[in-house]
Amino acid sequence: MTAEVFTPSLIPTLPGQAYVSEAIFRAEQECIFEQMWFCAVRSADLDKPGAWRTAQVGRESVLISRTRKGGIRAFYNVCRHRGVKLCMEEQGEAARSFQCPYHAWTYDFEGKLIAAPNLTKMPDIDRDEYGLVKVHTREYLGYVWVCLADEPPSFEEDVMGAIEDRLGDLRAVEDYDIANLSLGRRIKYDVKANWKLIIENFMECYHCATIHPELTEVLPEFADGLAAQYFVGHGAEFGEDIKGFTIDGSAGMDRIPGVGEGQDRRYYAVTIKPTVFVNLVPDHVIIHRMFPMAADHTIVECDWLYLPSVVESGKDVSASVELFHRVNEQDFDACERCQPAMGSKVYAKGGVLVPSEHHIGVFHNWVQEKVGELTAGCSPCLH
Ligand code: FES
Repeated sequence: MTAEVFTPSLIPTLPGQAYVSEAIFRAEQECIFEQMWFCAVRSADLDKPGAWRTAQVGRESVLISRTRKGGIRAFYNVCRHRGVKLCMEEQGEAARSFQCPYHAWTYDFEGKLIAAPNLTKMPDIDRDEYGLVKVHTREYLGYVWVCLADEPPSFEEDVMGAIEDRLGDLRAVEDYDIANLSLGRRIKYDVKANWKLIIENFMECYHCATIHPELTEVLPEFADGLAAQYFVGHGAEFGEDIKGFTIDGSAGMDRIPGVGEGQDRRYYAVTIKPTVFVNLVPDHVIIHRMFPMAADHTIVECDWLYLPSVVESGKDVSASVELFHRVNEQDFDACERCQPAMGSKVYAKGGVLVPSEHHIGVFHNWVQEKVGELTAGCSPCLH
């Protein structure tokens, strides 16, 4: 891991408006979520041909589905006739095709227009040209990632590089076999806070001693406030009496076979920009996916993944789920307490980052650069 060197001084945070301004949020939707690879759905949730999910990516609704041949396709969730949102729900299963509820244009699972009332009387309608508009897809870590950009950035650098390079010698993807783990539990959180507050919170542990009594019991070094996510490339070690990453320190489930002795009894965490957190412990992996909905509203889906044999056995995973569920609730509560104060006149110029939070400053710079890249001179930016 390459650590950046910071001087031990206070540096300014973003101004409060960066968390409340709808104009800035729109710029982030356009310049970040609609330009980068975005982790949209879990592949296994599309378990048969015709199974579909929708995901909010920036300003767009994206329809992701399983084809007859077992592949994955993603489309803008917009009928090509007069623009009806094709699928209104979050998930479903189409028997043979997607049919628009307005005038019954019908698309196959590849997105091709295959039928429409009186289509034979409309020779100008090219069925390929008026098919659903495709979105770029990749499958990785057991999830479908989509990109709305015409020319997507390098998936290898932006997504794979973020997790594969981030942890030095730890081979997170291979050792934890993330793509082949099974879903043990999913909890969806409706957080009334800006997405950046959630990321910033995840990146530091200055707050851990104050709000995470259960987590600091399991990971005592988090109690000193310095074991920020950025600095735990070495893995935060379990406390002496702790048997597993569980709410009461009891033993967890079967260890993932690729996890070596050096990684046993350790916790690792990685952020994959813009909206994914990956937490690795010996017997499970926790993946958070954020869906920024508005300047003050973010939906977070959190998946707890275990060995398939653990999930199939029906073993009770509640003790391990409860630990991070409680951490999530504590974190999101803190973010929701920050959100209304971001609009206060006394926070107009923002606050300060203490030295252990300086990597959050790097995140702020990254956001500013991303927004600035496409909005220079035309849209409000964070500068
Ligand atoms: Fe979809 Fe008319 S808007 S068929």
